[in-house]
Amino acid sequence: MFESLQPTPPDAIIGLIKLAAEDHNPDKIDLGVGIYQDETGATPVMRAVKAAERRLLEAEQSKKYIGIHGNPQFNRLFAELMFGKDSRAIAGNRLALAQTAGGSHALRLATELIKLANPKATVWVSTPTWANHTPLVGSTGLAINQYPYYNKQTQTIDFGDMCAALEKGAKAGDAVLLHGCCHNPTGADLSKEQWQKIADLMEEKQLLPFVDLAYAGLGDGLEEDAYGLRLLANRFDEMVLAASCSKNFGLYKERTGLVAALARSPEEAALANGQIGLTMRRMVSMPPDHGAALVAGILSDETLKADWMDELEDMRIRMTGLRQALSHALDVQGAEQMARAIVAQKGMFSLLPLSPQQAERLRSEHSVYLLNSGRINIAGARLENIERLASCILDVL
Ligand code: LMR
Repeated sequence: MFESLQPTPPDAIIGLIKLAAEDHNPDKIDLGVGIYQDETGATPVMRAVKAAERRLLEAEQSKKYIGIHGNPQFNRLFAELMFGKDSRAIAGNRLALAQTAGGSHALRLATELIKLANPKATVWVSTPTWANHTPLVGSTGLAINQYPYYNKQTQTIDFGDMCAALEKGAKAGDAVLLHGCCHNPTGADLSKEQWQKIADLMEEKQLLPFVDLAYAGLGDGLEEDAYGLRLLANRFDEMVLAASCSKNFGLYKERTGLVAALARSPEEAALANGQIGLTMRRMVSMPPDHGAALVAGILSDETLKADWMDELEDMRIRMTGLRQALSHALDVQGAEQMARAIVAQKGMFSLLPLSPQQAERLRSEHSVYLLNSGRINIAGARLENIERLASCILDVL
């Protein structure tokens, strides 16, 4: 029967991992998939994660099931980290929480919850957005629409067009998927004023905030990167969050994340919790434990937590330094607009104003790996090759 199946379209990000791995040029620069790399090109296990892993190995007595919502200690501690320990959401006991297999699973569960509550909702996603957002959200069957977000040629946020599209097209009950920080793929984040304005607009139009927070700590810092989420959680009766531990705890392959639904009351949060649990049970029965057990081990121990925060801050500072160096090198070589944009953008990604053909030339002529969309992961660069990177980019312009 399988002969009737259609061949699958290539996945740009996953395909690029393979392409880059197959290139043995020692001068290769891999700016593809969104993983953090240090100055040697390695993606090490974070110190606190290693320590928590050692403790877990000794202390763990059983592998028995925990439950359909996963590890409750992880859910509570990670939610406190994201929303703030003293937030109204936590204090009011208004959160439905479940541990997920990474941020993607959290996105899927959040969208399934929206669909159960309001099957007529449309989910609005930014143009551009993370390549997997539309397939993930779309696979629930909910309608999707796009709001303009970023002008690739001018390398600026289209905030006016974003507001106008939502103002005109969104109906009450629709969900607006917003990148909490370090927008993927552009690195262009909303300013505090823009967060306020978009919150006003969503409130006025009765839209549901749907925040994807996959890079907390890698933009301006943990507290700063939660600004948008916390603003919305303080103002809205209801919202959903999909958060990931892949990047900030370096737990990529362990698949660790959190889905949260903020409800008007503890009773309504319990209803949302029930439905998230039911969907989880039908999908994967229960989430995998290991990554969440490590995060819980780190966040519940002051020493490990402090060490994790230090290392996360070092990673952030390294990426900021790379942005400054690339910006400087581009500026010196005359690419002023790109230089300005890259230094102002946040987190791992920037979207360069390159065509797919130019991206392909960077790969084939210079062994510089980036997505066809022009997205680069700055963490894949090194201070020692930044000038060459700038020259390669200019060479294909
Ligand atoms: C990325 O955007 O590169 C990462 O989030 C990895 C992925 O799964 O796409």
